[in-house]
Amino acid sequence: MSRSPLKNGDITILLTRQAEEVNDLLKRLLDEQVDIQPVLRKAMRYTLEAPGKRIRAVLALWCCELVSGQVNDIARIAAAAIEMVHTYSLIHDDLPAMDDDDLRRGRPTCHKAFDEATAILAGDALLTLAFQILAEKVKEPGTAIRLIRTLATAAGPAGMIAGQVDDMAAEKKQGTLNKLRQIHLNKTAKMFSAAAAMGAIAGGAEDAPLEALLHYGLNIGLGFQIADDILDVSATSEHLGKTVGKDDEAGKLTYPSLVGLDRSRQMSEKITEEAISVLVPFGPQADRLRGLAEMLLSRTR
Ligand code: IPE
Ligand code: IPE
Ligand code: MG
Ligand code: MG
Ligand code: MG
Repeated sequence: MSRSPLKNGDITILLTRQAEEVNDLLKRLLDEQVDIQPVLRKAMRYTLEAPGKRIRAVLALWCCELVSGQVNDIARIAAAAIEMVHTYSLIHDDLPAMDDDDLRRGRPTCHKAFDEATAILAGDALLTLAFQILAEKVKEPGTAIRLIRTLATAAGPAGMIAGQVDDMAAEKKQGTLNKLRQIHLNKTAKMFSAAAAMGAIAGGAEDAPLEALLHYGLNIGLGFQIADDILDVSATSEHLGKTVGKDDEAGKLTYPSLVGLDRSRQMSEKITEEAISVLVPFGPQADRLRGLAEMLLSRTR
Protein backbone atom coordinates (compact mmCIF):
# COMPACT_ATOMS: atom_id res chain seq x y z
CA MET A 1 0.00 0.00 0.00
CA SER A 2 1.43 3.37 -0.97
CA ARG A 3 -1.02 6.18 -1.51
CA SER A 4 1.41 8.99 -0.92
CA PRO A 5 3.96 10.08 -3.52
CA LEU A 6 6.27 10.61 -0.54
CA LYS A 7 8.32 7.54 0.26
CA ASN A 8 8.97 6.37 3.81
CA GLY A 9 12.52 7.72 3.59
CA ASP A 10 11.27 11.21 2.59
CA ILE A 11 8.82 11.23 5.48
CA THR A 12 11.52 10.11 7.90
CA ILE A 13 13.70 13.04 6.82
CA LEU A 14 10.81 15.52 7.19
CA LEU A 15 9.88 14.02 10.55
CA THR A 16 13.45 14.19 11.86
CA ARG A 17 13.77 17.81 10.81
CA GLN A 18 10.47 18.75 12.43
CA ALA A 19 11.34 16.75 15.56
CA GLU A 20 14.54 18.78 15.93
CA GLU A 21 12.46 21.95 16.10
CA VAL A 22 10.29 20.34 18.76
CA ASN A 23 13.42 19.39 20.73
CA ASP A 24 14.70 22.99 20.65
CA LEU A 25 11.33 24.30 21.75
CA LEU A 26 11.04 21.84 24.66
CA LYS A 27 14.49 22.82 25.85
CA ARG A 28 13.65 26.52 25.64
CA LEU A 29 10.33 26.11 27.45
CA LEU A 30 11.97 24.27 30.32
CA ASP A 31 14.87 26.75 30.55
CA GLU A 32 12.31 29.55 30.85
CA GLN A 33 10.96 28.03 34.07
CA VAL A 34 13.56 29.45 36.42
CA ASP A 35 12.04 28.26 39.70
CA ILE A 36 12.24 24.49 39.23
CA GLN A 37 14.16 22.68 41.98
CA PRO A 38 17.50 21.54 40.46
CA VAL A 39 17.16 17.75 40.92
CA LEU A 40 13.58 17.85 39.69
CA ARG A 41 14.67 19.88 36.63
CA LYS A 42 17.38 17.33 35.90
CA ALA A 43 14.90 14.45 36.10
CA MET A 44 12.33 16.26 33.93
CA ARG A 45 14.94 17.02 31.27
CA TYR A 46 16.41 13.54 31.48
CA THR A 47 13.44 11.80 29.85
CA LEU A 48 11.93 14.79 28.02
CA GLU A 49 15.15 15.54 26.15
CA ALA A 50 16.00 11.89 25.50
CA PRO A 51 15.59 10.92 21.84
CA GLY A 52 11.83 10.38 21.53
CA LYS A 53 10.34 10.24 18.05
CA ARG A 54 8.05 13.28 18.74
CA ILE A 55 5.31 11.80 16.54
CA ARG A 56 2.40 13.36 18.45
CA ALA A 57 4.03 16.81 18.45
CA VAL A 58 4.80 16.64 14.72
CA LEU A 59 1.27 15.47 14.04
CA ALA A 60 -0.08 18.61 15.72
CA LEU A 61 2.27 20.82 13.67
CA TRP A 62 1.41 19.15 10.36
CA CYS A 63 -2.33 19.27 11.04
CA CYS A 64 -2.06 23.00 11.74
CA GLU A 65 -0.15 23.47 8.50
CA LEU A 66 -2.69 21.41 6.56
CA VAL A 67 -5.67 23.51 7.65
CA SER A 68 -4.04 26.95 7.64
CA GLY A 69 -1.09 26.77 5.24
CA GLN A 70 1.51 27.27 7.95
CA VAL A 71 2.72 26.20 11.38
CA ASN A 72 1.95 28.89 13.95
CA ASP A 73 3.08 29.58 17.53
CA ILE A 74 -0.14 28.21 19.04
CA ALA A 75 0.51 24.88 17.32
CA ARG A 76 4.10 24.92 18.59
CA ILE A 77 2.89 25.38 22.17
CA ALA A 78 0.27 22.66 21.67
CA ALA A 79 2.95 20.32 20.27
CA ALA A 80 5.22 20.92 23.26
CA ALA A 81 2.34 20.40 25.71
CA ILE A 82 1.41 17.07 24.09
CA GLU A 83 5.00 15.90 24.20
CA MET A 84 5.25 16.81 27.91
CA VAL A 85 2.09 14.85 28.73
CA HIS A 86 3.28 11.92 26.62
CA THR A 87 6.68 11.91 28.35
CA TYR A 88 5.05 11.99 31.79
CA SER A 89 2.97 8.97 30.73
CA LEU A 90 6.12 7.07 29.75
CA ILE A 91 7.91 7.86 33.04
CA HIS A 92 4.94 6.60 35.04
CA ASP A 93 4.31 3.64 32.70
CA ASP A 94 7.87 2.42 33.38
CA LEU A 95 7.60 2.54 37.19
CA PRO A 96 7.97 -0.75 39.12
CA ALA A 97 4.28 -0.60 40.12
CA MET A 98 3.34 -0.45 36.45
CA ASP A 99 5.37 -2.04 33.62
CA ASP A 100 8.60 -2.10 35.63
CA ASP A 101 10.93 -1.19 32.76
CA ASP A 102 14.62 -0.35 32.95
CA LEU A 103 15.19 1.14 29.51
CA ARG A 104 13.42 4.04 27.79
CA ARG A 105 14.44 6.10 24.77
CA GLY A 106 17.75 4.24 24.81
CA ARG A 107 18.59 5.22 28.40
CA PRO A 108 17.94 3.83 31.86
CA THR A 109 14.38 4.75 32.85
CA CYS A 110 13.85 7.85 34.99
CA HIS A 111 13.36 5.89 38.21
CA LYS A 112 16.58 3.97 37.54
CA ALA A 113 18.63 7.06 36.80
CA PHE A 114 17.16 8.93 39.80
CA ASP A 115 14.80 7.20 42.24
CA GLU A 116 11.13 6.30 42.25
CA ALA A 117 9.94 9.33 44.16
CA THR A 118 11.84 11.68 41.85
CA ALA A 119 10.48 9.88 38.76
CA ILE A 120 6.90 10.12 40.03
CA LEU A 121 7.37 13.82 40.75
CA ALA A 122 9.12 14.51 37.42
CA GLY A 123 6.10 12.93 35.70
CA ASP A 124 3.70 15.00 37.79
CA ALA A 125 5.70 18.13 36.99
CA LEU A 126 5.67 17.54 33.21
CA LEU A 127 1.94 16.84 33.23
CA THR A 128 1.24 20.04 35.14
CA LEU A 129 3.66 22.18 33.16
CA ALA A 130 1.92 21.17 29.93
CA PHE A 131 -1.30 22.81 31.07
CA GLN A 132 0.55 25.78 32.55
CA ILE A 133 2.17 26.62 29.21
CA LEU A 134 -1.14 26.23 27.34
CA ALA A 135 -2.84 28.58 29.82
CA GLU A 136 0.02 31.12 29.82
CA LYS A 137 1.18 31.18 26.23
CA VAL A 138 -1.99 30.82 24.18
CA LYS A 139 -3.22 34.37 24.44
CA GLU A 140 -6.72 34.01 23.00
CA PRO A 141 -8.74 32.56 25.94
CA GLY A 142 -11.27 30.65 23.80
CA THR A 143 -8.50 28.85 21.91
CA ALA A 144 -6.55 28.15 25.12
CA ILE A 145 -9.62 26.57 26.74
CA ARG A 146 -10.34 24.38 23.69
CA LEU A 147 -6.75 23.14 23.62
CA ILE A 148 -6.70 22.50 27.38
CA ARG A 149 -10.02 20.67 27.22
CA THR A 150 -8.90 18.53 24.28
CA LEU A 151 -5.64 17.50 25.95
CA ALA A 152 -7.19 16.96 29.41
CA THR A 153 -9.97 14.80 27.99
CA ALA A 154 -7.55 12.62 26.03
CA ALA A 155 -5.06 12.19 28.88
CA GLY A 156 -7.54 12.02 31.73
CA PRO A 157 -9.65 9.43 33.55
CA ALA A 158 -11.86 8.63 30.54
CA GLY A 159 -8.84 8.59 28.20
CA MET A 160 -5.24 7.52 28.67
CA ILE A 161 -5.60 6.82 32.40
CA ALA A 162 -8.59 4.56 31.74
CA GLY A 163 -6.49 2.71 29.16
CA GLN A 164 -3.60 2.32 31.60
CA VAL A 165 -5.93 1.04 34.34
CA ASP A 166 -7.46 -1.53 31.98
CA ASP A 167 -4.04 -2.47 30.56
CA MET A 168 -2.83 -3.34 34.07
CA ALA A 169 -6.09 -5.11 34.98
CA ALA A 170 -5.94 -7.25 31.82
CA GLU A 171 -2.53 -8.75 32.69
CA LYS A 172 -2.46 -12.55 32.88
CA LYS A 173 -6.14 -12.82 31.95
CA GLN A 174 -8.00 -14.17 28.95
CA GLY A 175 -9.02 -11.10 26.93
CA THR A 176 -11.13 -10.35 23.89
CA LEU A 177 -10.44 -8.30 20.78
CA ASN A 178 -13.09 -5.79 21.83
CA LYS A 179 -11.44 -5.29 25.20
CA LEU A 180 -8.02 -4.91 23.60
CA ARG A 181 -9.31 -2.37 21.07
CA GLN A 182 -10.86 -0.40 23.93
CA ILE A 183 -7.55 -0.41 25.84
CA HIS A 184 -5.62 0.81 22.78
CA LEU A 185 -8.24 3.44 22.02
CA ASN A 186 -7.90 4.87 25.49
CA LYS A 187 -4.23 4.46 26.30
CA THR A 188 -2.82 5.54 22.94
CA ALA A 189 -5.27 6.52 20.20
CA LYS A 190 -7.00 9.33 22.06
CA MET A 191 -3.68 11.13 22.52
CA PHE A 192 -2.98 10.89 18.77
CA SER A 193 -6.46 12.15 18.02
CA ALA A 194 -5.99 15.01 20.50
CA ALA A 195 -2.65 15.90 18.88
CA ALA A 196 -4.27 16.13 15.44
CA ALA A 197 -7.23 18.09 16.81
CA MET A 198 -5.03 20.53 18.74
CA GLY A 199 -3.04 21.26 15.59
CA ALA A 200 -6.27 21.80 13.68
CA ILE A 201 -7.67 24.06 16.41
CA ALA A 202 -4.42 26.05 16.44
CA GLY A 203 -4.82 26.53 12.69
CA GLY A 204 -8.43 27.72 13.09
CA ALA A 205 -10.00 24.69 11.36
CA GLU A 206 -13.72 24.55 10.55
CA ASP A 207 -15.78 21.68 11.99
CA ALA A 208 -15.53 19.31 8.99
CA PRO A 209 -11.71 19.25 8.66
CA LEU A 210 -11.40 19.10 12.45
CA GLU A 211 -13.64 16.01 12.52
CA ALA A 212 -11.69 14.39 9.70
CA LEU A 213 -8.36 14.97 11.47
CA LEU A 214 -9.75 13.63 14.77
CA HIS A 215 -10.73 10.47 12.90
CA TYR A 216 -7.35 10.25 11.14
CA GLY A 217 -5.50 10.70 14.46
CA LEU A 218 -7.57 8.06 16.22
CA ASN A 219 -6.86 5.50 13.51
CA ILE A 220 -3.15 6.13 13.22
CA GLY A 221 -3.02 5.91 17.03
CA LEU A 222 -4.72 2.51 16.96
CA GLY A 223 -2.29 1.35 14.28
CA PHE A 224 0.63 2.81 16.24
CA GLN A 225 -0.17 0.75 19.34
CA ILE A 226 -0.57 -2.45 17.32
CA ALA A 227 2.88 -1.74 15.86
CA ASP A 228 4.19 -1.14 19.40
CA ASP A 229 2.88 -4.56 20.43
CA ILE A 230 4.43 -6.15 17.31
CA LEU A 231 7.80 -4.49 17.94
CA ASP A 232 7.85 -5.84 21.50
CA VAL A 233 8.04 -9.33 20.00
CA SER A 234 10.00 -8.64 16.82
CA ALA A 235 12.54 -5.85 17.40
CA THR A 236 15.77 -5.71 19.37
CA SER A 237 16.04 -3.71 22.60
CA GLU A 238 19.07 -1.89 21.23
CA HIS A 239 17.24 -0.62 18.15
CA LEU A 240 13.96 0.05 19.95
CA GLY A 241 15.51 1.83 22.95
CA LYS A 242 13.32 -0.15 25.35
CA THR A 243 13.48 -3.73 26.57
CA VAL A 244 11.69 -6.13 24.23
CA GLY A 245 9.79 -9.23 25.29
CA LYS A 246 8.33 -7.47 28.31
CA ASP A 247 4.69 -7.81 27.24
CA ASP A 248 4.88 -11.58 27.15
CA GLU A 249 6.76 -11.69 30.43
CA ALA A 250 4.08 -9.58 32.13
CA GLY A 251 1.23 -11.49 30.49
CA LYS A 252 -0.07 -8.35 28.74
CA LEU A 253 -3.08 -8.51 26.49
CA THR A 254 -1.62 -7.57 23.09
CA TYR A 255 -2.45 -8.09 19.42
CA PRO A 256 0.33 -10.64 18.81
CA SER A 257 -0.67 -12.62 21.94
CA LEU A 258 -4.34 -12.61 20.97
CA VAL A 259 -4.36 -12.99 17.17
CA GLY A 260 -0.74 -13.73 16.21
CA LEU A 261 1.76 -11.64 14.26
CA ASP A 262 0.32 -12.03 10.75
CA ARG A 263 -3.19 -10.99 11.72
CA SER A 264 -1.81 -8.17 13.83
CA ARG A 265 -0.03 -6.83 10.76
CA GLN A 266 -3.15 -7.18 8.61
CA MET A 267 -5.23 -5.35 11.19
CA SER A 268 -2.79 -2.45 11.46
CA GLU A 269 -2.76 -2.20 7.63
CA LYS A 270 -6.54 -2.02 7.58
CA ILE A 271 -6.60 0.70 10.22
CA THR A 272 -3.97 2.67 8.29
CA GLU A 273 -6.10 2.47 5.16
CA GLU A 274 -9.04 3.75 7.16
CA ALA A 275 -6.89 6.64 8.45
CA ILE A 276 -5.79 7.56 4.92
CA SER A 277 -9.33 7.32 3.54
CA VAL A 278 -10.58 10.23 5.66
CA LEU A 279 -7.94 12.51 4.11
CA VAL A 280 -9.59 12.49 0.66
CA PRO A 281 -11.25 15.93 1.05
CA PHE A 282 -7.85 17.54 1.67
CA GLY A 283 -6.44 16.47 -1.71
CA PRO A 284 -2.68 16.39 -2.33
CA GLN A 285 -2.09 18.87 0.51
CA ALA A 286 -2.49 15.92 2.88
CA ASP A 287 0.25 13.82 1.23
CA ARG A 288 2.54 14.30 4.21
CA LEU A 289 -0.12 12.92 6.58
CA ARG A 290 -0.73 10.02 4.18
CA GLY A 291 3.00 9.35 4.10
CA LEU A 292 3.19 9.56 7.89
CA ALA A 293 0.44 6.94 8.28
CA GLU A 294 2.22 4.62 5.84
CA MET A 295 5.59 5.18 7.46
CA LEU A 296 4.22 4.37 10.93
CA LEU A 297 2.86 1.11 9.59
CA SER A 298 6.32 -0.16 8.69
CA ARG A 299 8.23 1.50 11.49
CA THR A 300 10.99 -0.47 13.18
CA ARG A 301 11.29 1.68 16.30
C1 IPE B 1 5.50 4.77 23.31
O1 IPE B 1 5.30 5.86 22.45
C2 IPE B 1 4.25 4.51 24.09
C3 IPE B 1 3.10 4.12 23.28
C4 IPE B 1 1.96 4.70 23.37
C5 IPE B 1 3.22 3.02 22.36
P1 IPE B 1 6.38 6.27 21.34
O2 IPE B 1 6.79 5.06 20.58
O3 IPE B 1 5.85 7.42 20.57
O4 IPE B 1 7.60 6.73 22.26
P2 IPE B 1 8.71 7.87 22.00
O5 IPE B 1 8.06 9.16 22.34
O6 IPE B 1 9.17 7.80 20.60
O7 IPE B 1 9.80 7.53 23.00
C1 IPE C 1 1.99 2.60 26.97
O1 IPE C 1 1.79 1.37 26.37
C2 IPE C 1 0.96 3.53 26.73
C3 IPE C 1 1.10 4.76 27.53
C4 IPE C 1 0.07 5.48 27.73
C5 IPE C 1 2.37 5.19 28.10
P1 IPE C 1 3.06 0.43 26.56
O2 IPE C 1 3.28 0.12 27.99
O3 IPE C 1 2.95 -0.70 25.61
O4 IPE C 1 4.22 1.40 26.04
P2 IPE C 1 5.76 1.00 26.04
O5 IPE C 1 5.90 -0.23 25.20
O6 IPE C 1 6.17 0.78 27.48
O7 IPE C 1 6.43 2.19 25.41
MG1 MG D 1 2.13 0.00 29.71
MG1 MG E 1 5.16 0.02 29.02
MG1 MG F 1 4.55 -1.50 24.47
